[in-house]
Amino acid sequence: MAKKLYIKTYGCQMNVYDSARMADTLAPLGYVETDIVDDADMVVINTCHIREKAAEKVFSELGRLRRMKETRKSDQDKDLSIAVAGCVAQAEGEEIARRAPWVDVIVGPQAYHTLPELVSKLDPSSRRAVINTDFPVEDKFDFLPEEHTPRGPAAFLSVQEGCDKFCTFCVVPYTRGAEFSRPVKSIMDEAKRLIASGTVELSLLGQNVNAWHGEAEDGSTWNFGRLLYALAELDGLKRLRYTTSHPLDMHDTLYEAHANIPQLMPYLHLPVQSGSNRILSAMNRRHDRDTYFRIIDRLRDGRPDLALSGDFIVGFPGETDRDFADTLNLINTVNYASAYSFKYSPRPGTPAANEEMQVDEAVKSERLAGLQQVLAAQQRAFNHSKLDQVMDVLIERPANRVGQKAGRSPWMQAVHFNETAGAIGDIIPLKIVSATQNSLAGEPILSV
Ligand code: 5AD
Ligand code: SF4
Repeated sequence: MAKKLYIKTYGCQMNVYDSARMADTLAPLGYVETDIVDDADMVVINTCHIREKAAEKVFSELGRLRRMKETRKSDQDKDLSIAVAGCVAQAEGEEIARRAPWVDVIVGPQAYHTLPELVSKLDPSSRRAVINTDFPVEDKFDFLPEEHTPRGPAAFLSVQEGCDKFCTFCVVPYTRGAEFSRPVKSIMDEAKRLIASGTVELSLLGQNVNAWHGEAEDGSTWNFGRLLYALAELDGLKRLRYTTSHPLDMHDTLYEAHANIPQLMPYLHLPVQSGSNRILSAMNRRHDRDTYFRIIDRLRDGRPDLALSGDFIVGFPGETDRDFADTLNLINTVNYASAYSFKYSPRPGTPAANEEMQVDEAVKSERLAGLQQVLAAQQRAFNHSKLDQVMDVLIERPANRVGQKAGRSPWMQAVHFNETAGAIGDIIPLKIVSATQNSLAGEPILSV
């Protein structure tokens, strides 16, 4: 009988992608995914370490799973296997094994292709997890089996991992390791398989995706822009996106790609983190605000309808009212369609965590609230600007509200509409009839 696998995913899109690939690795062992944790024979929690409380959240989740495991054993005499994956597993693997001896498997983001081997070593009577948090020399993508289940109309495809930039606040270079670019063929093969299984939109993923520089089959090295041109040639691929990019890795081919590739959607997540040159320098971002403005001007020259999204950190050590005002000013100059913003959270092992000039928690909260108010107003205005327009919407899934389907606009906006319009995977024109901060409502265009 099939064994049931339940995966709980925290954090970024890369983790969503990794979770699906972990399910692929376990499928040949007879594991079938379930949405119901109580049915599971194995639970994987795929963790995120980017901000505070991540580790605490993992430990409280593990506490719940321990109780579940004990009840399962005493009531049904059945085992529940527990695996911890992702960046907390990488950063705190030993600590998890020590504090939560009921965990069976601990696996890091670069080693999850070894899951079947780790699972085969499982011994329910052991009081010690099997651990693999290595950064192996082999490329995990060479060892992952093909996708076991279709990924749907809009799918993620990881092309790059890790980061060599060492922003002083960030754990990624430590948890995901050094920058690594998948070779062209491996990416193109996966893209073709996804398209053959019904995917029409690909979001290319990487911690520093536009730093991708992969080896082509003729031995030459391509830049990221060139990869986009090659993917755009694939029959059946109707939309392309990518995330997350770094301002320093913008390059000529990529600017041209935004101007010339119709499938490349007019939406870009380009985090700047702060609008203050002093703070940008302390963060080791290695560019100033004017460079960021110039990049955006150049992108908008080629693609005037480009919508921008970003990430912001408030309360970085040493941030003054004046620095914060510079961030607000940058936000007002750029005008974002959406953005994510966070209070600075000291990450153990990163340089900024040891700074003395930590900002008071109350000040961080106040600045975050102020910044989010401005960003929310920009997002509402952006969504309202689409009222009465007709736009192409990719139908992705039934909506939460009965009788409706949900999809995405070219600018990543969630759009709801009557379920009778189109089929999942279609791209259909909809007229936008209402807009809120978080979504749009559309109506089909009646053909005459
Ligand atoms: N504190 C707060 N926010 C952080 N981010 C990364 N590290 C930290 C930290 N230590 C944010 C950045 C990044 C996003 C993924 O998370 O804005 O772009
Ligand atoms: Fe972290 Fe900076 Fe690398 Fe992004 S660029 S992953 S913020 S170190």
